[in-house]
Amino acid sequence: MSRTVSAEPIDSLSADWPDQLREIRRQLGERPTLLPHHFLEAVLPKIGGACISLFHAESWEKSSPCGYAFLLPRHTGVDGATFTLRYESVDGSGGLDADAVSKAVGEILPAEQQTRFYLPEGDHIFTPTHFDFDGVDCGRPNKTEAAEIRRMQRSIWHSAADGLYPSDLHSDDGGMGCSLAARVDGDLAGFLLGFFRFPTGPASPGLDIYRQDLQLESQLLAVAPGKRRRRIGQLLKRLQACQAVEQGIDLINWTTDPLLFANALLNFTRLGAVACEFQPNLYSFRNELNRVVASRLNLLWAVRSRRVQRALRFGGQIGPSEVEADSGLTVVNEGGGSPIFGAESARIAIEVPSDWVALQREDMEAAQCWRAITNRLLDHYLGSRPGQYYITGTGVAGWRCYIIGERVDDRLLDELFAPAE
Ligand SMILES: CC(C)(COP(=O)(O)OP(=O)(O)OC[C@H]1O[C@@H](n2cnc3c(N)ncnc32)[C@H](O)[C@@H]1OP(=O)(O)O)[C@@H](O)C(=O)NCCC(=O)NCCS
Repeated sequence: MSRTVSAEPIDSLSADWPDQLREIRRQLGERPTLLPHHFLEAVLPKIGGACISLFHAESWEKSSPCGYAFLLPRHTGVDGATFTLRYESVDGSGGLDADAVSKAVGEILPAEQQTRFYLPEGDHIFTPTHFDFDGVDCGRPNKTEAAEIRRMQRSIWHSAADGLYPSDLHSDDGGMGCSLAARVDGDLAGFLLGFFRFPTGPASPGLDIYRQDLQLESQLLAVAPGKRRRRIGQLLKRLQACQAVEQGIDLINWTTDPLLFANALLNFTRLGAVACEFQPNLYSFRNELNRVVASRLNLLWAVRSRRVQRALRFGGQIGPSEVEADSGLTVVNEGGGSPIFGAESARIAIEVPSDWVALQREDMEAAQCWRAITNRLLDHYLGSRPGQYYITGTGVAGWRCYIIGERVDDRLLDELFAPAE
């Protein structure tokens, strides 16, 4: 007979949310099915997900949880919103059955929300797909590739075990919003993974024409070091956009380190994404690509917009603009110094290092200066209030590299977000 279960949500807004997550990880122990700590801490609340403690009902007031439910947005329909319920039981506390867990969680959710039970450690089916996309074999990974994706994440980011995404997420029932592998000569050459996202705040200006209730939150894009600069990253993003449009999803979100110039080229210039918000110190982790405070630009990719459709068609031929040839532009810093906070021109250029990963490795002091100055500038300039700017492009002046901001007004919003015909 199944045991009675009680459920209690954990408040992601409370100051001790990160500590509570660490305690949950301690109770559950190192297991490869656990979602990464930084994802749970910073991304889960942002995408409308939740973490719920589960107790044996007869003793819950005095006992510690016997398991946890991690709710990931899955889909929306006429019957409301559905979450994937990833159930993790605490070893030795007696497992709970699916019905008991689903019922307990259902009792604390609003009536229009439901869950789909999922046991991460279960024996899952992976159905690979294959599309020949500009000569590269792209599609959903098989089980072996799903495991390889985790290894590739570890080798590129040098992430600790608690920073790795579980490979079961790529299974047919894992509920991912996007799971793509790129293969070259049969070997994994890159991957892209993302989650569904329910809105947790108002739409940014100019975007209310697009579907809001279900979006994508793209989390990781990587290409194996030996396979870079062959447009594989770009291909994976293009396929993600095509699949989103087919699914009726209009908005894809992700974050990027503002100081990674190569990524800025890809995101703004080649793909047509736009950064409307800035989050200083988003993640507490440190790894190979994040040796100093991990600040992030929030990117928006309105995949049905004229701008993005044009970028997807012609973006491969567009390069960074020439900063010195632009009379309507103010350069607001020089490396990690000389910040200017009073610019009012149509465009601003924020200088970023030409190779941020190498700079972090070779000169920590200089890297920290770059981060501090660009954090202050982005905090000041980025946003939709009158006089603020969105980051929309990249620029160069000789060997110097820049990200370019455009002053927000109705004309810009139309240019950035008007739908394609
Ligand atoms: C970012 C990354 C996924 C790009 O993959 P990729 O397959 O090499 O990218 P593409 O070949 O599609 O490049 C697209 C454009 O981005 C720009 N770009 C990419 N890498 C660049 C580099 N090292 N230097 C300058 N520009 C670069 C270029 O404009 C390039 O187009 P081009 O070659 O026609 O000039 C890859 O470098 C990577 O895995 N990096 C480490 C992980 C990471 O930062 N992931 C993204 C954040 S989750």
